[in-house]
Amino acid sequence: MGKTTGSDDRIKAHTRESRQTMGIPFEQLEPPRWGGPIPNPVERSPLRLSESVVVDPPVVLSPMAAVTNPPYRMICREMGAGLVVTEMIDAGGLATGHEGSMEMLDIRDCEHPVAVQIYGNEPEVMAEAAKVVAAEGADAVDVNMGCPMKKIVRKDLGAALLQTPELVRQIFDAMASAVDIPVTGKIRAGWDGADAVDVGRAMADGGAAAVTIHGRTRTDGYEGHVDLAIIGELVDRVDLAVVGNGDVRDWASARRMFTTTGCDAVMVARGALGNPWVFREIAADLAGEPVPDPPSLDDMKATIAEHMDLYIETFGEETTAYECRKHLLWYFRGSPGEGALRECLADIGCRADIVAAVEAACEACRQAGELPTAAKHHRARQRAG
Ligand SMILES: Cc1cc2nc3c(=O)[nH]c(=O)nc-3n(C[C@H](O)[C@H](O)[C@H](O)COP(=O)(O)O)c2cc1C
Repeated sequence: MGKTTGSDDRIKAHTRESRQTMGIPFEQLEPPRWGGPIPNPVERSPLRLSESVVVDPPVVLSPMAAVTNPPYRMICREMGAGLVVTEMIDAGGLATGHEGSMEMLDIRDCEHPVAVQIYGNEPEVMAEAAKVVAAEGADAVDVNMGCPMKKIVRKDLGAALLQTPELVRQIFDAMASAVDIPVTGKIRAGWDGADAVDVGRAMADGGAAAVTIHGRTRTDGYEGHVDLAIIGELVDRVDLAVVGNGDVRDWASARRMFTTTGCDAVMVARGALGNPWVFREIAADLAGEPVPDPPSLDDMKATIAEHMDLYIETFGEETTAYECRKHLLWYFRGSPGEGALRECLADIGCRADIVAAVEAACEACRQAGELPTAAKHHRARQRAG
């Protein structure tokens, strides 16, 4: 084995980090596929969270830690997401004006409507944090009740709240009384069983405007298929607008989520990693229009360049050179460009290197005659058809 350099170590560390985003194994970042026939086209009105906050189309970019920062939210809004959600932010940090937390509360004019997701478990602190979020111009504030990470649930945060519906009611009551913007929450199917209905009712009693449900329990983590039945049960038994989440990765799986559960909107997380075009696909299908052709390599290059320029503008060139790697891998994963891209990753240090790496990946795709997102798109059509 050759001697490793400092730069090699950094790449290895980065690769480990990319593989372990939020503690999720890299393979599981690719959502499992649903089989079966394509459901019929679906009609859904925009989702109204309040008089002035309307989610149109009813397709939402999920909160994703270390992913849904301003650059990616702007790209996804541009591609047709009806609402975008920030990464989860510590409510205590916001309530006390902690610099790191406040920096994450960076909302741009072109993002609206945007929801800010916070985590915490003390009603007064959550209410204070909601005031800060509202003052920064967010359109909604969302409570994280689904994070399964040990370091979070050990402190009775995130998914741990699924076990205490009365506390959930108090949190929503305090927040809804403190701010005029809609207060929403994101839950899982349950801690270890089906707690969603109890928690959903507690949210409704506390004054929530909507509930998003990821149809897996905390114990499931990200494994197996999402449980559509529990999402449907929440729709039937709780008097709240329901956003269905889990394994939506294209227009066909969005149709399935809407049809099977009766939900009011869908939320996309892993299906949007490296694929912001998923929003225009689902939006077109919901509008009864033909699903647009996948982006050409030139379109892809332009979108990736815009994403990276926004990244540089927001975080600077050095941070972008480091953090862009996971995004670039997502854009090209499973395509002929992935190998070529990996060969360039170690050398990325500035904007010009990013452009060169993307060009190399595109060239490999061009030579193989395959489009990265086209491949995903057509697989979805074949699977569903
Ligand atoms: C990288 C990553 C980061 C995530 N971070 C958050 C988060 O900050 N808050 C949250 O509520 N869910 C978070 N999630 C969960 C997703 O929002 C979503 O509920 C889950 O991935 C299931 O949806 P999907 O099948 O569309 O991926 C994260 C998921 C991923 C893959």
